[in-house]
Amino acid sequence: MKGVILAGGTGSRLYPLTKVTNKHLLPVYDKPMIYYPMETLINAGIKDIMIVSGRGHAGHFLELLGSGVDFGVHFTYEIQEKAGGIAQALSLAEDFVDGDSVTVILGDNIFQDNIKEDVANFDDGAKIFLKEVPDAHRFGVAELKGDKVIGIKEKPKEPKSNFAVTGLYIYDSDVFDAIKTLKPSGRGELEITDVNNYYVSKEAMEYGVLEGFWSDAGTFESLLRAGVLVREYQEELHKTS
Ligand code: G1P
Repeated sequence: MKGVILAGGTGSRLYPLTKVTNKHLLPVYDKPMIYYPMETLINAGIKDIMIVSGRGHAGHFLELLGSGVDFGVHFTYEIQEKAGGIAQALSLAEDFVDGDSVTVILGDNIFQDNIKEDVANFDDGAKIFLKEVPDAHRFGVAELKGDKVIGIKEKPKEPKSNFAVTGLYIYDSDVFDAIKTLKPSGRGELEITDVNNYYVSKEAMEYGVLEGFWSDAGTFESLLRAGVLVREYQEELHKTS
């Protein structure tokens, strides 16, 4: 299993915080944002991790994270020249993944759950991780029937459920063929939701529901919330230890 952290994009929703630095280097409580997705992959037992970032500030990721030796893993770096969407960024990892399976995580997503077992038990197809939220229209939203996902809509005005599709995905190596079939969406990007619907249409999509907290951190509100959630969790840990 390989890991990919997608840390591209312009961070326009966080301007001017992102005027001179990258969104994923901003603090979430006591660590740079990218540490959280990195730890999610490392805690899942993944040791070979590619970080895809935009061209500006790419050197800062290298300076911050280095080879991976400090974390007991190996990092590889790739540059997304233009903001072409999450799926386009993932396509840059094809040679790195080299026919293996891949766990993909968005660089601004903070998870409490450990997905070690999901990674260990993954066979083929794809798996997404859902979280019940009060504001599903902000995310990709899964439509469920029994234990199946029957469709995913990106930021629907009228969500068919309260289950947001979080920025954590496991794919087999077919994902790169799936991306090659995609056309840019209305916002001119190759959408990860279209990749997921490719697997849904092949009846090869599984899902899990997260138990712990989850937050994105790409807006002022969610960045603040993510920091508060992390602090609360750390206080809980101190109380019980
Ligand atoms: C992206 C995905 C969306 C997903 C979200 C999770 O949205 O397109 O499906 O629910 O991440 O954070 P973005 O916030 O990049 O627009």
